[in-house]
Formats: sequence, structure tokens, C-alpha cells
Amino acid sequence: MKTSNFLGRDWLDPELSYTREEWDTLLDVGFELKKRFAMGQDTSGILKGKTLFTMFFNQSLRTRSTFDAGIQQLGGFHSSLEPGKTYTPARKGFDIPYKTERISDVARMLSRVGDAIAIRMYGPPAGWNYGFAHATMQEFAEYADCPVINMECDKYHPCQALADLMTIKEKFGTFKGIKLTMSFAYSGSIEKPRAVPQSVVLAAALMGMDVTLAHPEGYELDPEVVKQCEKYSKQYDGSFQVINDFDKGFKGAHVVYPKAWGAHTCFNYFDPKTGKKIKDQDHKEATRVNELAKGWMTTKKQIDMIDKNGIYMHCLPADRGQEVTDEVIDGPKSVVIDEAENRLHAHKAIMALLMGGRL
Ligand code: CP
Repeated sequence: MKTSNFLGRDWLDPELSYTREEWDTLLDVGFELKKRFAMGQDTSGILKGKTLFTMFFNQSLRTRSTFDAGIQQLGGFHSSLEPGKTYTPARKGFDIPYKTERISDVARMLSRVGDAIAIRMYGPPAGWNYGFAHATMQEFAEYADCPVINMECDKYHPCQALADLMTIKEKFGTFKGIKLTMSFAYSGSIEKPRAVPQSVVLAAALMGMDVTLAHPEGYELDPEVVKQCEKYSKQYDGSFQVINDFDKGFKGAHVVYPKAWGAHTCFNYFDPKTGKKIKDQDHKEATRVNELAKGWMTTKKQIDMIDKNGIYMHCLPADRGQEVTDEVIDGPKSVVIDEAENRLHAHKAIMALLMGGRL
């Protein structure tokens, strides 16, 4: 197992910046650490004495608890830097006197005293400006001498994608020939990031799966993500299609992943080069398409259409009674707790490889 090419790297958008082979290594290391955890083996030498700083601009259960437990199980320490209790890190041009601190200073300071900086930011802290949170993490990475880890931004949730690939591999033993449908699901909340669906379709296409993206009109993902999925499907001998039919996405699928995300009208858009605003969010239109999507709830009817060995996935938290019925999410096809558990092993693999563990 070759691991040295990971040392010191950032984990911002690995669905684009890490190779297929590197994802295979991450999966191998995740399974190895899961095995050692199950056998009660001591792994505290792997990141002995190393420090992980986390910054959560949004709420979290799974990501927070598993990074915290994971670094300690590898022998390191966790320091939670709550924005608001520190001076809120700000990008160049977004400073507020005595409330914010320029990211260049924060990143350079933390690099001197710790070994990785992990950040979660999307939605309100980024003003629902699509790409702002990702650009914030890129600015951290520009100045930090240690790895910067994306714990979910407004474009990608690669930690979730790695744990989900682990879960699929455990259930089917392979990615080849596995039909995965990433589907929109209804939620009463119109404002949600599209990080999970974007990372899941990219990671699945990278692994050569047969990927279907299902959503109502108005819920299109980033066109760049769709383009990259098409490219990966050709490169890795899988397939990729986009459909606007809820039930069709379930028929014969091995993996169904129905999950709410925001309509494209719930975001503001900027030109990434000039910073000039291109389009304002339109809540009236986002509400209109959301009302039309009320039927996109996963019930037993849809689950009865999937492959006999098929599984239901969701990153959690789920909006029960809106995205999915209790009967489905608590039913025999559901693997949502396995996915959540795999967050621990996936995050340990990311930290061990990027922060310098020797397995
Ligand atoms: N799926 C996920 O990232 O969960 P949390 O928001 O609880 O971290």
C-alpha cells in the first residue's frame, strides 16, 4: 500500500483532485482502521501528539463527533475553535474591525502550532453565495502549511462521499455494475446545500458505477459537476444519466440515495474570477418548485421497486415524514447507521494519510 503521496495535502475537493488509485488507497486504509478498531487494537501511535483544529460554522453531529473521536483514537488531540468565540476568520475584503481576523493570519498562526485545520461552512455563514464557502477553504489552504480538510462546504462533502463508498463496498464487494441513484427528496426547508449529492455522484462516477441523478426541474446540480460525471463515466467505464422522474430512479437500483437539496434558485451566484454578482437568489421561485416536489418522498412503494439486494442510503440528519417515511429509514433496506459509523473510519483514514501517520 503506497501512502507517502498523501502527506501534507489538502482535502478540499478530492473528487476532482485525487486520483482513482488514491481513492482506492483511502478506502483500503479506512477498512484497515475499521478492522483494528473492531479488534480493539491500539492505534494511538499513528498520529501521536498531533493536533487537529476544527471550525464549525454550521451545526453537526456526525462530522463533529467522529473527527473528535477519530483523532484521539489515533493518539492526537482535538481543539474546537468555535467561530464567534475566536475572531471569525474572514476572507480578504470581508473584514469587520475587531470581529473578524484575516484568514491569512489565522491559517499561518494555526499551522505553527498544530497539524491540520478542518472546516465546515455552507449556507448562512457564506450568505448563500454559491462557492463562497469553498473559496474560503481555498484561501485557508493558500496560507496554511498544514493540511486543510473540507468537512462540508457549499460545493462538496468529500468526507461523506468516502464513508458512503466504504458502505457500498461493504454491501456489494465491488463498484463495477452497481446501479446507484442519487435522487432529490422533498423537505419543508427550501435552503439546503447541494454538497452531498454533488460529492456522491462524482465519487460514484469516479469508481465506475452506473449513476443516475434524479431530480425535479429547478433542482439541477452545478453544470461543472454534471460535466465531470459524464467525463468520469467514460474514463472509468461506468454510465451517467440525469432524469426528472422520481419512481424511475428506484426501478432495479442497487443503491438509492434520496436526499433533499436546495433548488438552484436558493443560491446567489458570483463570477469566481471577478467576484461580480451574476444572479440573486429567488425565494419565490425556490418555494414554487419545492411545493411541486412534495411527492418526492421515499415510501415503501419506491423501496419495493429496487433490486432485491438493494440498499437505502441517507447522510443524515433526515427529515422524516418529508424526505422519507419512518418505515423506510428504519426498515431492512436502510443502511443509514452503517454510513454514519463509517464516517469515523473514513475520517481516520483521511487524517492518518494527510497528517503523517505510519500504518
Ligand atoms: N451527514 C453529516 O455530515 O452529518 P452532520 O451534519 O451531523 O455532521
